[in-house]
Amino acid sequence: MPLNAKKKLIAPSILSADFSQLGKEILDVDRAGCDSIHVDVMDGHFVPNLTIGPPVIRWIRKTTKLPLDVHLMIDDPIRYLEAFREAGSDWITVHVEACQDVGKTLAKIRSLEAKVGISLRPKTNVSALEPYLRAVDLILIMTVEPGFGGQEFMPEMLEKVRSLRARFSGLISVDGGINLETGRKAAQEGADIFVAGSAIFKQKDRKSYIDQLRSAIS
Ligand code: DX5
Ligand code: ZN
Repeated sequence: MPLNAKKKLIAPSILSADFSQLGKEILDVDRAGCDSIHVDVMDGHFVPNLTIGPPVIRWIRKTTKLPLDVHLMIDDPIRYLEAFREAGSDWITVHVEACQDVGKTLAKIRSLEAKVGISLRPKTNVSALEPYLRAVDLILIMTVEPGFGGQEFMPEMLEKVRSLRARFSGLISVDGGINLETGRKAAQEGADIFVAGSAIFKQKDRKSYIDQLRSAIS
C-alpha cells in the first residue's frame, strides 16, 4: 500500500506486545490484517523510558513484510537515522522538539529513501510544524504524553487533527490511547493512521479487535 493512499491504516504498537514472543506477536497482528507495525524507540532522555534499537528492528524486519513505522523518541535523532534505515525501517518519524536542525534531519530521512514523518508532544503547538508541512509524508500527533503505553487518550488533541487536516494533504497518524471509541473520533477529524498498542495486544483475539477497529474508523 503506497503511503499516500487514503485508506485508513491500523498500526499495532509492539510496545504492548510480549517481548519474549515478539516474532509470534507480530505474526499474529500481521495475519489479523493490520497495515503496518509501529515500533517505539525511546532513549531515556527525550522520554523517561528505554526500549529498543536497530538490532531488534533488524530481526523484526525478518518476521514481516508489512511496513515498519518507526517512531523515534530520542534526542538528536539524526545521529542514528542511517542505522535505523539499514535495519529495515520504512517510515521514520522524529520529534520536532528533539532535533537540533529539523530541516536537515527530515532531509536526511528523505535521502535514505524512507518515508518522512514528524511528531509533536501534546504540549507543542501545531504551529511548530508549519515550516515542515511540505517536507514530510506523515505527521504523527501524540495523543498521550510520549513514553509509555496504556495511557488515556487526550481529547484536546482532536483539535490538532482537525487543524492540520485543513492544510496538510499527507498522512495524519494518531498515537496514544487509541481504542474503538477514540479511534472513531480521530477518524471523524480526518486521521489516516491509527496506532494502537495496549488496546490490541491485551486482546486474546487480535483479529476480531482489528476488524472492530477497522469498522469504527471507516
Ligand atoms: C507512546 C508510544 C505509543 C504507545 C501507544 O510513547 O508512542 O506508540 O505504544 O500505546 P497505547 O495504544 O497503549 O496508548
Ligand atoms: Zn509511538
